[in-house]
Amino acid sequence: MERSVTDRGLREIVAAQTRVSDIDGQAGRLWYVGYDIRDLAGKISYEEVVHLLHELRLPNQAELDALHDFMVEEREVSKFLRELMPTLAQQTSPMSMLRTSVSAASAYDPDGWDDSAEADRRKALRLIAKTPTLLAMYHRLRTGQEIVPPNTKLPHAANFLHMLLGLEPSQEDAEVIDTTFVLYADHTMNASTFTARIVASTLADMFSAITAAIAALKGPLHGGANEESMKMLEEVGSPDRAEAYVRDRLERHQKVMGFGHAVYKTMDPRAVVLKRLSKETGERHGDTSWFEISEAIERTVAEQKGLFPNVDFYAASVYHTLGIPTDLMTPIFAVARMAGWTAHVREQYADNRVIRPGSEYIGPRDQSWVPIDER
Ligand SMILES: CC(C)(COP(=O)(O)OP(=O)(O)OC[C@H]1O[C@@H](n2cnc3c(N)ncnc32)[C@H](O)[C@@H]1OP(=O)(O)O)[C@@H](O)C(=O)NCCC(=O)NCCS
Repeated sequence: MERSVTDRGLREIVAAQTRVSDIDGQAGRLWYVGYDIRDLAGKISYEEVVHLLHELRLPNQAELDALHDFMVEEREVSKFLRELMPTLAQQTSPMSMLRTSVSAASAYDPDGWDDSAEADRRKALRLIAKTPTLLAMYHRLRTGQEIVPPNTKLPHAANFLHMLLGLEPSQEDAEVIDTTFVLYADHTMNASTFTARIVASTLADMFSAITAAIAALKGPLHGGANEESMKMLEEVGSPDRAEAYVRDRLERHQKVMGFGHAVYKTMDPRAVVLKRLSKETGERHGDTSWFEISEAIERTVAEQKGLFPNVDFYAASVYHTLGIPTDLMTPIFAVARMAGWTAHVREQYADNRVIRPGSEYIGPRDQSWVPIDER
């Protein structure tokens, strides 16, 4: 049967059923298991979101405590990864390090090649627990600083900031990073989640699926946009230069990073929260310049192109103000998205059919083979 591409980029194709999250692109809404992100952000912890996405319901206190204890216990990484890290810190970019070390983490997972649902749940939680440690360790090594061990008293996201910067974050900063993790935790069938589900659909293991997801997130059209947004803020330098910068970019048909979205046709609901956090965090740290430059860019892009900021745009100034280096912004997205990726992989395993779409052949037909010396 002749088949043709009806939808480049598969925008209108529904590729899977999910109970994990949902989006209304026209209304600018996002739900985790039916809970509106606007109600969750700032109210529940990342650990609660992990439970929600994996168990499809919010935890009670005892369940949350048990999850927290398991994840705290799993924060340390294997000797193999600790030995690998100095080379990765010297030779690879942060996303390449994460992709390689998540793949390598499979070597010493206590559940080995057990692919039971229970083993996969533990593997998922271990990945969520360990990836912040990997990223912090990488950064400390590449900057010649002492590695900071996980702090068992701190929650997941605050502990990450502690291991990265070597300082216990203020309560306010701890809450801000936690909220960003909540906002990044899942986002339906984006490119990296779809990638993870495709790999899972072949019944390859959890580590393979997540390694592939990290690879998909690496590209600037998906995860790299928060870093590119920060570079843009630095290049613009002050609010009064925003308009000229944006006009110039658009005239040269270049994209303004952190704007536009494949699904949202209005403001990304996560960007609404992050915009507020960008302002508040800037005020608390005594420097609102990044927020002001961001706002000026947002205004101009809306006027010139009618586009809205996505999650990555205001995340950039929030993370920068928290002291996070620009090139760690995409891997932090990956570290937070670990909750959603692993939940989707488990969902795929639970009701699987190998994902194998068709293609439209557009090359020549009925060619005649000729020997190499006659070509
Ligand atoms: C996210 C993104 C890939 C969505 O792509 P998409 O759904 O394929 O949207 P399109 O690329 O078809 O965009 C439609 C139009 O808006 C323009 N557009 C989209 N995003 C734009 C941006 N960030 N800056 C300038 N123009 C943009 C496109 O050039 C196109 O214009 P045209 O109709 O004149 O050709 C795209 O908006 C983008 O590249 N954004 C910047 C990267 C980014 O922030 N990524 C993070 C996503 S969470």
